[in-house]
Amino acid sequence: MIDLRSDTITRPTPAMRAAIAEAEVGDDVYGEDPTVNALEAEVADLLGHEAGLFVPTGSLGNQLGVRLLVPPGKELICDTVAHIVRAELGAAAVFSGITLRTWPAGRGLLDVDAIASLVTPDAGPHMVSTAAVLVENTHNFGGGTVQPARALDDLRALARERGFALHLDGARLWNAHVATGTSLRELAGGFDTVSVCLSKGLGAPVGSVLVSSAERIAEARVWRKRYGAGMRQAGILAAAGRYALAHHVERLVDDHARARRLAGALGVDPSTVDTNIVAIDVTDAPAVAAAARDEGVLISVLSPRRARMVTHLDVDDDDIDRAVKVLEPLVRTVTRGIG
Ligand SMILES: Cc1ncc(COP(=O)(O)O)c(C=O)c1O
Repeated sequence: MIDLRSDTITRPTPAMRAAIAEAEVGDDVYGEDPTVNALEAEVADLLGHEAGLFVPTGSLGNQLGVRLLVPPGKELICDTVAHIVRAELGAAAVFSGITLRTWPAGRGLLDVDAIASLVTPDAGPHMVSTAAVLVENTHNFGGGTVQPARALDDLRALARERGFALHLDGARLWNAHVATGTSLRELAGGFDTVSVCLSKGLGAPVGSVLVSSAERIAEARVWRKRYGAGMRQAGILAAAGRYALAHHVERLVDDHARARRLAGALGVDPSTVDTNIVAIDVTDAPAVAAAARDEGVLISVLSPRRARMVTHLDVDDDDIDRAVKVLEPLVRTVTRGIG
């Protein structure tokens, strides 16, 4: 099987497994795991924030981030296809009493004018007040899109002017960094909280890091434990993350090139593929996915008419060639075209 469903499906490489085996560990709930402490400091420094917190998932990184910024009964604004609104099972409402409002965005891109007209930081006693805006970079369901630098700058300026906070869902911020050459510090700058994942393109088995001010991270540490996600000898997981940071960031350019090649072969303009995700609009996505599975290629269905393919560490050039042979006729015959 060639598995293009997600970049989360990668397995640790032998060298990563060796790093896991050799990790120094301690009880992280006591703050005594040296490998976790080193990972948290390293990611905070890379992103230009004061402190970091190792968490098991990107969902928890997001949920802790937004709960620090948005009090119960206030709102978080994000786009219509953001991971937090589509794929975190209502957690912001369930755990934190946060309401969400969205700007329409098929490719997940920022629309600062739309945000400016939605944001009401002090809405008075009758309406919901806005506490924060969430940005996803790169954007998963939008097709791996990179947020334009200009729009990010405009949003940072608007946040300062109107007095709302910013959370960055940077599950794939590494991809944006490699695709644009913009430093991680610049991409993460101006955001009050940032969550990044080690278990997507970077290929670690588990783990994300939330970064922010030291004060906010101390508060997030309490909430992490309260949610039951205080981990003990988590250094074996953090070691995989540290290995991934040292060895798997720059190689993301290969994933991006493969995604563009796949897109081009399927009739999608490669210049619309920013990173490692190819989203295609088809007339019957489940039918395409089922037919592809029968021929040994796994892809995901994002909606009845949208399918997604993701390149990653465990897919090489030959796999892409084989996937194209399977997918190209299916996309042509089963769906009558892609958009
Ligand atoms: C953009 C984005 N944010 C957050 C997450 C959540 O990560 P996790 O699956 O580790 O909870 C994902 C997962 O795919 C994602 O794509």
